[in-house]
Amino acid sequence: MVNLTIDGKQVTVPKTYTIYEAARDAGIEIPVLCYAKKLLPFGACRVCLVEVEQMKGRLIPSCTTPVTEGMVVTTTSEEIRKVRRTVLEFLLVNHVVECPVCDKGGECELQELTYDYEVVTNRFKGEKFHYETDEKNPFIERNMNRCVLCGRCVRVCDEIVAHGSYSFVERGFETKIATAFDRGLSCEFCGQCVSLCPVGALLPRPFKFKARPWQLKEVDTVCGYCGNGCTHTLGIKDNQVQTIRFNDKNGVNDGNLCIRGRFGYSYVNSDQRLTRPLVRKGGELVETSWDEALEAVANGLKDEKGAGILTGARLTNEELLLLKRLAQAAGVKNLDHSGGSHRVLTEGVASVLGNAASTGTFPQVETADVILSI
Ligand code: SF4
Ligand code: SF4
Ligand code: SF4
Ligand code: FES
Repeated sequence: MVNLTIDGKQVTVPKTYTIYEAARDAGIEIPVLCYAKKLLPFGACRVCLVEVEQMKGRLIPSCTTPVTEGMVVTTTSEEIRKVRRTVLEFLLVNHVVECPVCDKGGECELQELTYDYEVVTNRFKGEKFHYETDEKNPFIERNMNRCVLCGRCVRVCDEIVAHGSYSFVERGFETKIATAFDRGLSCEFCGQCVSLCPVGALLPRPFKFKARPWQLKEVDTVCGYCGNGCTHTLGIKDNQVQTIRFNDKNGVNDGNLCIRGRFGYSYVNSDQRLTRPLVRKGGELVETSWDEALEAVANGLKDEKGAGILTGARLTNEELLLLKRLAQAAGVKNLDHSGGSHRVLTEGVASVLGNAASTGTFPQVETADVILSI
């Protein structure tokens, strides 16, 4: 462990920590833009500059500087504010500020910092970018005129997704994030880069102009597409699922989703979904009450010899358990779902480990001593 002082507060943290992480754990907020908890330190934006007594004469980036014993750190002062404001002015030199029509408005980290640091004018003048927006795919809009070159998209696609879709190209003012041969995005469309982009440079296309962030009600649920059980946070407006929100606070998936979980939610809003119970009367399906429908099901199960219940794999474990109890109560012996083909595997794992599913979360894989992969 390492002892240091941050803004007059004594702090003891693991020696692997950076100044930013030590401050965060001590409840001291340092602004960041290129830093992301799940990515390796990068140090691209310089928004997180702080003063260290032992390194006088210059401000240093807190997100990349490791803590050392006896360090004395100051995170806020008039000089630090002035330098951070200058950094923001640099970032805004070529940024096309179009917050009123940018879907990121209201949760844009650049917008928030610009407001917090009162960057009302810019002493530096520069050309704005005029890149064509990449809309060649149905999922992700790439508007590089809004990019702040934080590199989060490059790093998440490289470090977490292992797809390597993006890279920095060109130099100096011309630097930009590009795909291979600048041909437009062609990848797994997992949306991790969209989730981590701090500004409106990468946006989910199906969500465009649907709602402002503050209009969305967030509801946590579990993705029903496969047995991984990733946490899903729905963004709901007008009783419709408008988008899937980034959530790395709970669940096994650390905010990571695949294309189905990230973009495959619109079926929930389909007007062809059954939302009212139906019973067959005179050969026709007609709307009815839940009581009548359940009675019809119960009678049907009693009457039919060898009745069975078949379901899809979109149900959660809890829902499947309830279905099993219902089958038991109704005396139905045949219960199956389309994930049944994995039964041999899960039964084998259960007999060896005592648990039919994974015993850890995805991030725990990184720190596990032993990994059993089947
Ligand atoms: S990326 Fe942020 S600052 Fe830029 S236009 Fe969009 S909301 Fe405004
Ligand atoms: S959607 Fe996923 S695979 Fe595609 S560029 Fe973004 S992070 Fe990489
Ligand atoms: S596209 Fe977004 S995440 Fe990628 S470098 Fe630009 S601002 Fe950062
Ligand atoms: S957050 Fe530290 S340099 Fe960007």
